[in-house]
Amino acid sequence: MGNCFGTHPVNISHSQCTSKPPSREQTDEEKRNGFEGISPEKGKGKIYNNNTPADAMATAADVPSSGKIVTPNLKMFTLQELKQTTKNFRPDSMLGEGGFGRVFKGWVDEKTYGPTKAGTGIAVAVKKSNPDSPQGLEEWQAEVKFLGKFSHPNLVKLIGYCWEDKQFLLVYEYMQKGSLENHLFRRGAEPLPWHVRLKIAIDAAKGLTFLHSSEKSVIYRDFKASNILLDGAYNAKLSDFGLAKFGPINGHSHITTRVMGTYGYAAPEYIATGHLYVKSDVYGFGVVLLEMLTGLRALDPNRPSGEINLVEWAVPSLENKKKLKKIMDPRLENKYPMEAAIQAAEIIKKCLHSDPKYRPSMDKILETLEQVNAIQENPKKKSCSIKTKPNNKQQQEHHHRSPLRFKHNGTRGARPSHY
Ligand SMILES: Nc1ncnc2c1ncn2[C@@H]1O[C@H](COP(=O)(O)OP(=O)(O)OP(=O)(O)O)[C@@H](O)[C@H]1O
Ligand SMILES: [Mg+2]
Repeated sequence: MGNCFGTHPVNISHSQCTSKPPSREQTDEEKRNGFEGISPEKGKGKIYNNNTPADAMATAADVPSSGKIVTPNLKMFTLQELKQTTKNFRPDSMLGEGGFGRVFKGWVDEKTYGPTKAGTGIAVAVKKSNPDSPQGLEEWQAEVKFLGKFSHPNLVKLIGYCWEDKQFLLVYEYMQKGSLENHLFRRGAEPLPWHVRLKIAIDAAKGLTFLHSSEKSVIYRDFKASNILLDGAYNAKLSDFGLAKFGPINGHSHITTRVMGTYGYAAPEYIATGHLYVKSDVYGFGVVLLEMLTGLRALDPNRPSGEINLVEWAVPSLENKKKLKKIMDPRLENKYPMEAAIQAAEIIKKCLHSDPKYRPSMDKILETLEQVNAIQENPKKKSCSIKTKPNNKQQQEHHHRSPLRFKHNGTRGARPSHY
């Protein structure tokens, strides 16, 4: 996999990256994951709640008490309304850009969700598909199908959608502090203190636990720092359900599917075989936790060779306290309980186990993280707990570029797929 990079979320061409392509035939799971509920043939942009097998499986009884699956109750916006909301998608209202397209800030009325003047009503984020993206429709459908049904404090709320003029748009609650990726890696970003990082990890773990623990588990498939969004109080929520899938049924351990996701975060067994496990998400969680500890991107071609892939480079340092201190993010300024860092490192190692069977479940990880969170810094040691000084080399390694993502047939992303 190491030499097959692209920029955006993605499906990966196996012929480029592995010698073992997964079957291209549609599996039962893929059929089950189909999008009969939202069909282009059935009317422009209209969502049909016609109880497909997939829908039927996602009943309220399937989910734990901490969240609920709701009947789609999304507003169908017109393109005109969304133009008004975002001042005609004016560049200065742009919040960011991903593989699906650009994201703009807009304002709507709190009750009717009709467009309002900037600064009045509530802020929303409007994601607009890139018309050249052939995966736009598929990802849009998955987003509406999953996020439109789930309601949980650690999942971003989807307010509505629009499908008009071959454009697919999604309207979400606005997350004031943007993505975890920006906070960890953007040049000039204020460093996140240890307890905030841990809270974000716990919130994200709650989101994943919710998805995994419904009887018909949902595999999120694109867990990464840019998909963890933060509200004004740094509550973290998962966004981007474009790649989500229902998990295996009938005692199967995995589903087989096209390989899609983001390099650096996707589990090795999935990239190699197309076999997607619930525990494939756990691998991605381990990578993000490692990014939070080190302040380094999962993949960064600007780092010296041998250090480009964070997991390959950093995992040996999780073995003992002395090595761990050296890879901790210097922007934490040693202000964290060492015991908590050691335990977080333990979790990371388990999450990154090459065999998904041996990775812990998300609810176990959540429980352990909550214990880690209870560890207080020794007040005597607070200012000088760790003597590790960031060396220049590590400071330089804190780059601010996007991770490289898989690319499929050159359909998405701007960067070359090989380097
Ligand atoms: N609901 C939201 N509230 C505030 N900002 C958002 C919201 N959704 C997205 N953004 C901003 O827009 C950026 C782009 O998001 P998007 O999900 O399209 O791409 P990405 O996650 O960076 O990449 P990818 O295509 O791999 O998902 C995010 O990094 C974030 O800064
Ligand atoms: Mg995203």
